[in-house]
Amino acid sequence: MGELQIGKSAALFARATKVLPGGNSRTTVWSSPHPVYAASGEGCWLTDVDGNRYLDLLNNYTSLLHGHAHPAIMEAVTQRLPLGTAFPLPTETEIELAELLCSRVQSFDHVRFANSGSEAVMIALKAARARTGRPKIAKCEGAYHGSYDFAEVSLDSSPETWGNAEPRSVPYSHGTPQGVLDNVVVIPFNRSGEAERILRANAGDLACVLVDPMPNRGGLIPAQRGYLEMLRRVTSECGMLLIFDEVISFRLDHAGAQGVFGVDPDLTTLAKIIGGGFPIGAIAGTADAMAVFDPRHGKPLAPHGGTFNANPVSMVAGKMAMELMIPAEFTRLNALGQRIRDGIADAFEKTGIDGQVTGAGSLFRILMTSARLVDYRTAQAANAQAPALERVVAFLRDNGILIAGTGLGALSTPMGDAEVDLFVDIFTNALEREAALQ
Ligand SMILES: Cc1ncc(COP(=O)(O)O)c(C=O)c1O
Repeated sequence: MGELQIGKSAALFARATKVLPGGNSRTTVWSSPHPVYAASGEGCWLTDVDGNRYLDLLNNYTSLLHGHAHPAIMEAVTQRLPLGTAFPLPTETEIELAELLCSRVQSFDHVRFANSGSEAVMIALKAARARTGRPKIAKCEGAYHGSYDFAEVSLDSSPETWGNAEPRSVPYSHGTPQGVLDNVVVIPFNRSGEAERILRANAGDLACVLVDPMPNRGGLIPAQRGYLEMLRRVTSECGMLLIFDEVISFRLDHAGAQGVFGVDPDLTTLAKIIGGGFPIGAIAGTADAMAVFDPRHGKPLAPHGGTFNANPVSMVAGKMAMELMIPAEFTRLNALGQRIRDGIADAFEKTGIDGQVTGAGSLFRILMTSARLVDYRTAQAANAQAPALERVVAFLRDNGILIAGTGLGALSTPMGDAEVDLFVDIFTNALEREAALQ
């Protein structure tokens, strides 16, 4: 296919820089020299403004389980729109989506809706502080949980900043107040002994532990079951709440990652797939932990407003998207995930290029290193190979395949063996070109 024609995208970017900082509204979608602009999507295909078509293996950063413009979701939303899109009153639609979620996941007694994963994480952390009366939160080094400043701490710490003994609290955004850093305890992912020691040393001050069972920024390496079990035991013993961030990992199965691991948190943050392609966030958990939001007896311990919380458009789209995901569909999609991971691993082996694939379910991540990865620090081994990954991702894009610049990919239900095999063929070509460059 060769070089893409992207003249219209270039012109849109020039216009965008006049009214948006750096032409950008979302740091993640920036790519140099400028991003390609989307025009439309249908099923697992996306078309840009210059008419180039891509097999979309990014699915708005894992959120589109059913690809673009799924007919049943479009129908549900189209029926809803003429009835009104937002009210200063609750609607039945929020009860329906909450009922669906509670019927699937053992740890969900109650659900609270918000508008994004970042918001869900922020509200969950505030709920934990309100429930325990303690100021600090613990999180894993290198884990991404959205843009709340407490949740951002040590997101991109490096060997120069992360400290030798215990992980240090490193600011992500410039201007992060010292008070934020002082109130975030950073623990290593998947290293149970060290993490337990740090948590117990801070036990009296800690409201909660926030953990993503398969953190993408840390290399999409699944948690070891024993690590999550340790977190469950220690948080229970020390009176802290355990919060799972399942904004991405809820994709893994009918009851999310917690169903796969068999560990029940007190609170879970959700977003992405539960909105059927529309903005959403949610906090779900035990009746006891969620009681901080209950307004029936006066001001709740954790008051939480939000003009578009539980808006009926996101609710009906999310309900339809989740209803389509019956257990058999998770099984089919996860089998396709295994097919793509096997194909990627075979391509590395066949071409002799150093690399590996991580992930589970319908998620995968390509890493240009074969080093054994356990946590954020070991995953740094992949950083040295960033130029190789950049070349591979650009080759895929130039040949009509979209994945994240980090190597992250996610399948959607319109896909079958043919789309997976097309990807594997083009990926193999990308690695063959790498081999030729060496
Ligand atoms: C694990 C995790 N938590 C939270 C968020 C933030 O969600 P949102 O982008 O909807 O604010 C993300 C976004 O990618 C995420 O991956």
